[in-house]
Amino acid sequence: MKGIDDAKKIIVAIDGYSSSGKSTMARELAKRVGYVYVDSGAMYRAVTLYAIRHDMVTPEKKVKTEELIAALPDIHISFQAAGADGIQHTLLNGEDVEKFIRDMEVSNMVSPVAVIPEVRQRLTALQQEFGIHKGIIMDGRDIGTTVFPDAELKVFVCASPEERARRRYKELLEKGEDVEYDEVYKNVVERDRIDTTREVSPLRKASDAIELDNGDMTPSEQMDWLLEKFQEQVG
Ligand code: CDP
Repeated sequence: MKGIDDAKKIIVAIDGYSSSGKSTMARELAKRVGYVYVDSGAMYRAVTLYAIRHDMVTPEKKVKTEELIAALPDIHISFQAAGADGIQHTLLNGEDVEKFIRDMEVSNMVSPVAVIPEVRQRLTALQQEFGIHKGIIMDGRDIGTTVFPDAELKVFVCASPEERARRRYKELLEKGEDVEYDEVYKNVVERDRIDTTREVSPLRKASDAIELDNGDMTPSEQMDWLLEKFQEQVG
């Protein structure tokens, strides 16, 4: 039975293109309103890391799909509450893999892994479990369309590929990764292509989602916009 508190809580689904700033705004909103934040992309990234580590990617960068599907029952993903760095860490079979899953090596293989229907099925079920009591903000590609089609607030974020690549490049340099802007740009464009054209749950705006083009917005302007939409929903 739903408690009074559950009845007041909503589900917020934030979808959009790669490196569009979804995670930053979703994480910040969760902090401000005391909701749980779930980064669904981190879950696809953790499965990808598992595949790379277990030799399930060929030298030609093809995923060994059958092997990965067979290994799915051995892949357990969870999250550790934010610690001193203020960031929630992703755990793969109990190991904190947060610092590995954003590497270019994983970024280059994650979209091919995310097209596999069995992978999506498993992660979607887990994501739906996270949202069972509402009070959750989840970002990704198919949250408003497939994971939570009844979410009370749906946002679809976009910005030009150049702007998104610039943001991601800056973020990677700040983390000390040795990357070229061109490599990051190509990855952004290629992931957009794979994510929007795959057969199962392609990236697309849900018909009831509000579109946000944040190309010219500062993080704080973006936050004000999102908070206003949230307040409108919860009254
Ligand atoms: O790098 P960025 O933050 O833009 O992406 P992410 O949210 O970490 O997601 C990484 C990749 O996982 C995406 O490019 C998709 O291929 C896949 N993904 C997905 O298919 N469905 C989701 N709900 C979330 C991510």
